[in-house]
Amino acid sequence: MLCEGVGLFIDSSSPKEIQELFAWGVLSGVTTNPLIISRESPGVDLAECIREILSVSTGDVSVELTTETEAEMIKEALHYHAWDISRITIKVPFSETGLRVLHQLTKRGIKTNVTCLMAMNQAYLAALGGATYVSLFSGRVRDMGYDIRPIISSTRTVLERAGLGARIIVGSIRHLMDVNEALEAGAHIPTVTPPILRKMVWNPRTIETINEFNSAWRARPKKK
Ligand code: E4P
Repeated sequence: MLCEGVGLFIDSSSPKEIQELFAWGVLSGVTTNPLIISRESPGVDLAECIREILSVSTGDVSVELTTETEAEMIKEALHYHAWDISRITIKVPFSETGLRVLHQLTKRGIKTNVTCLMAMNQAYLAALGGATYVSLFSGRVRDMGYDIRPIISSTRTVLERAGLGARIIVGSIRHLMDVNEALEAGAHIPTVTPPILRKMVWNPRTIETINEFNSAWRARPKKK
């Protein structure tokens, strides 16, 4: 049985892809962000898109806030939360305002995913503020020339040492190797795009081996 709060999320806003990939039985949640939604589903009605995603998936579905003042963000969060009070997880962009919003949502018992984190100290603050998930951005950290692995492992160590329950999501995954490294470094949950998830399955030697076994079976001597 899977440990609580550990697994693999899909980073997508396409209900069709999400439905297809949840059928593999390996996913336990969905992350979206305004950029993914604008790219994958331009002009879509957000409520309709998220309702469709909820209906074809299981587990927490992260929906990111797009407003920028505390009052607006709380209003937006409550609006999204009402779509499914047990599964909608409010993605709060990290900032001073974000921390105030996180505090308000935590007091209301609303699940949160504090996002756009590039450093352990930021993740520590978010976890202290009651975040359900803290999202470290692998690819964007690497774009700046830093190694994401020590950031993930020190975040895991610090959260565990402090007894903080926040789960570490690692997103912004660009290569299959980023998934391996995130897991080895201590991420609880990588969130991967559909192409990366498909790459996790693909291995030429696996395909070759299965073909070899099936060909041998088909060519076996038959009883007369
Ligand atoms: C994670 O929750 C984010 O949605 C995502 O992984 C960000 O990735 P990007 O750096 O490719 O925009």
